[in-house]
Amino acid sequence: MTGSAALFRPFPLFGTELRNRIAMAPMTRGRIPPSGAPDSLTVDYYTQRASAGLIICEGTCPLPGGECSTGVPAIHGDDHVAGWAAVTRSVHEAGGHIAIQLWHAGRVSSMDWQPDGGAPLGPSAIRAAGARIRDRTGRAREPDMPREATRGEIQGLIDGFAHAALNAVAAGFDGVELHGANGYLLHQFFSDNANQRGDAYGGAPANRIRFAIEVAEAVTAAIGKARVGIRISPLSGYQAAKVSDPDRLYPLLTEELSRIGLAYVHCVEGEPGGARVTDPGDISGFDFVALRRAFDGAWIANNFYDWARAERAVARGNADMVSFGRPFIANPDLVARLRAGKPLAAINPDTLYAPGGLGYTDYPALDDADA
Ligand code: PHB
Repeated sequence: MTGSAALFRPFPLFGTELRNRIAMAPMTRGRIPPSGAPDSLTVDYYTQRASAGLIICEGTCPLPGGECSTGVPAIHGDDHVAGWAAVTRSVHEAGGHIAIQLWHAGRVSSMDWQPDGGAPLGPSAIRAAGARIRDRTGRAREPDMPREATRGEIQGLIDGFAHAALNAVAAGFDGVELHGANGYLLHQFFSDNANQRGDAYGGAPANRIRFAIEVAEAVTAAIGKARVGIRISPLSGYQAAKVSDPDRLYPLLTEELSRIGLAYVHCVEGEPGGARVTDPGDISGFDFVALRRAFDGAWIANNFYDWARAERAVARGNADMVSFGRPFIANPDLVARLRAGKPLAAINPDTLYAPGGLGYTDYPALDDADA
């Protein structure tokens, strides 16, 4: 591994130049105060990791009712914008770039997270059996029975995403990532086991992608297509959502996203925390390489990549960037460690969601002398 490796080459994204092709994947850390506004601890955490070519911050709630856990940030209020502005300023001062992930939990939520105390919104009134959320007291439980979103509510969600994207730009983010993966709202619309609508948003793949396409259109209209990406997980069954026809739905989705001119697709090859799929091209007959080739924008690959696999993917043009999740938790200076061929520290699983800085901002970088 050398400094001239493919992953260390700069990459143009969001109308700027990222200094390398190593992205920090979005990860829920549960440290955000109850207001949803990041504080100085969040500033420290992301600034420590600013040598990533791109930080994609933890899933952030675009509008009230999209939450499904405690300690999660939001971006619908002025206090949220102010909190995130301190984060983006500090990351930029450190020479880094940062995108916000807009995460709406949809049916994977509970009544106590809803502004009206009613059922959470989903594509259909089908419970996410076996999924796990936390209620406002932090207790882990199954989601509540959702309510089928009306056409008016679907439009409200789309408008909420666009408003959140405008707030994100006001907060200084370089770009916005729509969370279309892992069983949450956009993925619920893709999934025929969660979406059994009889209208234009359900049924055939062209209908199941409609909500995501309309969100992408609204967000790109608000902040410009060059600033918008999306995360997808074609094979994931996480949080009880499953697309039964990924080989039909995802090529259609990426084709439409190309038409809109989205800046990037961030693709989870498998499921978060689950086993990674084997080499792209030979997973359950699903062809990730073909999907990548059919998309005109940039491609960020994810899930349990190690250095050699990541380097190979970028060198072969199967990805423009590779995102790393867990390695960034215990190695704030992951890029420097990879560059120097130094060993990586292991995470402490017991402090992943601990309160305060424990297991959050206390993982040390290598000494300058060592690096
Ligand atoms: C999680 O909090 O465990 C989580 C959140 C969003 C994801 C995946 C996992 O996309």
